[in-house]
Amino acid sequence: MVPLDPHSFTDSTHPLTTHISLSLYFDFPSSTIHGAALFTLSSPHSGPLSLDTRSLSIHQILSPSTLSPLPFSLSPSPDPIKGIHLSLSLPNDNTLSSFLITFSTSPSSSALQWLSPPQTFNKKHPFVYTQCQSIHARSIFPCQDTPAARIRYSALLNVPRELSAIMSARHVDRRLPVSGEGYSNLLPNGFNSLWCSETRVVEDFDMNQPIPPYLFAFAVGELGFREVGPRTRVYSEAVEGVLEAAAKEFAGTEEMIRQGEKLFGDYEWERFDLLVLPPSFPFGGMENPRMVFLTPTVIKGDASGAQVVAHELAHSWTGNLITNKNNEHFWLNEGFTTYAERRIVEAVQGEDRAVLNIGIGWRGLNEEMERFKDNLEFTKLKTNQEGVDPDDVYSEVPYEKGFQFLWRIERQIGRPAFDEFIKKYIVTFKFKSIDTETFLDFLKANIPGIEKEIDLVLWTEGTGIPPDAYEPISNLYTKIVSLANEFKLGRMPREDEVADWHGQEWELYLENLPKVVEASQVLALDARYRLSESKDYEVKVAFLQLAILSKCKNFYGEVENTLKEVGRMKYLRPLYTALVQGTENEEEKILAKRVFAEARECYHPIAQGVVESIFAKHL
Ligand code: BES
Ligand code: ZN
Repeated sequence: MVPLDPHSFTDSTHPLTTHISLSLYFDFPSSTIHGAALFTLSSPHSGPLSLDTRSLSIHQILSPSTLSPLPFSLSPSPDPIKGIHLSLSLPNDNTLSSFLITFSTSPSSSALQWLSPPQTFNKKHPFVYTQCQSIHARSIFPCQDTPAARIRYSALLNVPRELSAIMSARHVDRRLPVSGEGYSNLLPNGFNSLWCSETRVVEDFDMNQPIPPYLFAFAVGELGFREVGPRTRVYSEAVEGVLEAAAKEFAGTEEMIRQGEKLFGDYEWERFDLLVLPPSFPFGGMENPRMVFLTPTVIKGDASGAQVVAHELAHSWTGNLITNKNNEHFWLNEGFTTYAERRIVEAVQGEDRAVLNIGIGWRGLNEEMERFKDNLEFTKLKTNQEGVDPDDVYSEVPYEKGFQFLWRIERQIGRPAFDEFIKKYIVTFKFKSIDTETFLDFLKANIPGIEKEIDLVLWTEGTGIPPDAYEPISNLYTKIVSLANEFKLGRMPREDEVADWHGQEWELYLENLPKVVEASQVLALDARYRLSESKDYEVKVAFLQLAILSKCKNFYGEVENTLKEVGRMKYLRPLYTALVQGTENEEEKILAKRVFAEARECYHPIAQGVVESIFAKHL
């Protein structure tokens, strides 16, 4: 076995899957999907073939022409990170380049969150959605779950007729089920006979551009939408207020797509739709092609959610067109995208806004150096992830150090030359999965002598922040940082100084305060500026984190409410960590455990795992 990716059982000597055709029956009462799928390989193969699975029941593997069973085996116990190795055996005559698998998910499949009606906005219908990045697609269907394997797919989703479905794919049709269509007559556990029941509909999708498995996505629920641009709809649960607010928040999307096209070349995915998820969605946004997933916390009523949309849009070029070959090169996805996001923000919101974002990122990067001071591997751009769960080491380093690296190159060669370089990079590698070396070779070939100006090895393989990284400068940024420094001397900003501040200004201010201050200072700050009640979770969470670390117990009720309201890991991580880290905080530890016990069910399985690993480290 020659591994291709530290997070996958995929064997590099085997052909890769090029297409999967899925028939999926959604059984909401048991939180289970029953599936049958046809896999097509890049070339005929004989002998063993390795696939990744997690929490799946594999019923049968069949030869597509004869429907005769093919032998397979599953590893006896799961690898804690990679899951279960499915090894199937193709006949020795080297004639098969496709096979069928029938399978069922389990209610604990890590990519899926099943919400019961009370956990949704409309309270009437259930909802289910995916989050596959980085290595969770294997908990929905067996696959070579590595971004090195790009696949096209088609899918028939059989769902209750009062619900509808969206996917990271072209919507072909919504219609009554047809007996025996797709591979539905092979479905396990009697679900083949329920396929055509009159309470069901089929949603038909096709994705004919090759994507890494982590970009596979769907959501099923009672969905509504609003048109917000010529190629953009915003979807969410069909609740009037949510759709209205979302449509307003994202009205500027088309302008961002146009700016993106000017900077990075044609938008290749035809549609750019948005789906606003229930509050338990564990990320701010996820760049599923054609259908970006967003947390509802980005809807703040002041169009600031545009930054997250700019980021996910930027992935349409960097990440979705050019993809990291495996998670060790994750910075190629996120560093490039953070750079591209800020160029789009600069174009539509101006340089001051972009610089503020760079400043918030700079602060975040410095914080991460503190977090990883005993584990310097994860302060590198290119990391060794053998035996490492990507969810455990998710951090701002690939985003912000990656951004700094690209910004450094831009400073060296000037913006016009760098813009030309990026365009050429995208054209050269689109629809490919690449690693750091490929990027560096391309850089050196196109910018001769660059390695003499910039220490490329230090940037990509070294730990910490290189000396030629750069703190941004602007009047606004500098003013906010100096006001934060004055707080340390006991001066709070005056009303006239903060009159124009939005969420991001407050976020930057709070992040530049000392970690711990006097409880009385926390109270005074809140008495004047009501930060604990901010509708902007970035501000609220930064404030509550300060309150916890400063042992200002007045806000613990608000901490509890927040942890029960949202499941975005960006908020759960700092709040739970602040509660449980360190000593002499028994009360906080008890609070954290109780709140998690009560809120756990409402979190996505990935978020549950992350909170559990924070507890395992500190409790
Ligand atoms: N692709 C990421 C989200 C992700 C990363 C999911 C790794 C699973 C594993 C997405 O593009 C992202 O970076 N989201 C950010 C948005 C922010 C940087 C504007 C988030 O969720 O906070
Ligand atoms: Zn991203």
